[in-house]
Amino acid sequence: MILLGVNIDHCATLRQARYRQAGITMGGNIEPDPVELAFRCEMAGADGITVHLREDRRHIQDQDVARLGESKTTRLNLEMACTPAMITFALKLKPHSVCLVPESREEITTEGGLDIVKNRDKVQRVTDAMNAAGIKTSLFIDPDAEQIELSAKLQAPWVELHTGSYANAYYGAGRAAEYQRLCGGAKLAHAAGLIVNAGHGINYINIAEVRTIPHLHELNIGHSIISRALFSGIDEAVSEMKRLMNA
Ligand code: PXP
Repeated sequence: MILLGVNIDHCATLRQARYRQAGITMGGNIEPDPVELAFRCEMAGADGITVHLREDRRHIQDQDVARLGESKTTRLNLEMACTPAMITFALKLKPHSVCLVPESREEITTEGGLDIVKNRDKVQRVTDAMNAAGIKTSLFIDPDAEQIELSAKLQAPWVELHTGSYANAYYGAGRAAEYQRLCGGAKLAHAAGLIVNAGHGINYINIAEVRTIPHLHELNIGHSIISRALFSGIDEAVSEMKRLMNA
């Protein structure tokens, strides 16, 4: 069975649109609460919760992550940049896993995989620190041989293959090639002993093909689930995605 990690950042984006100045300490009237949403996702069948604590704190806040970290039920996957500040934060929080992502202030959401060849030293520093602390590291990379082979050398147990290019090409001529690229990357990663996750741009339509990528362990999905939840509620949005993933 393929597992589902729900990325709840967009819930915090909505909250921050109204309450950026008020902060989370204003009491129970600040809505929507991403932690409450995380519980609802879990109740509906999500296997894990993903949040990205960005340097500019544009959506998820430190307090959100702390509350999720204290939760007895949440399997927390913390997306983070390879910075000393985030290493310290993660070692204190001890999430189940961290996912290393590129981070640029201009992008609206994460736009490309982390180039671990270019950032080898930084990535090595984080994977070493997390391995020593018993926190699993996932590397969010494009499905390219060079990136995958180095991921295995750096002893990150997981990779998350970036499905964004595939999702963008879904209605165009490049779709088959992007799909093959993901399948090839997944096979290579699996053969190198890596656990294969995938994410970005996965939705209720392309999931029919995404789920046929070999060796998938977990998919991380945010935008489409939160969007669907506006119409059908989060319980239905999560359970429907889980059903489609494993149809
Ligand atoms: N995986 C990673 C590493 C991400 O940064 C994101 C959010 O950009 C996602 C998965 C979820 O992507 P989406 O919101 O497009 O489902």
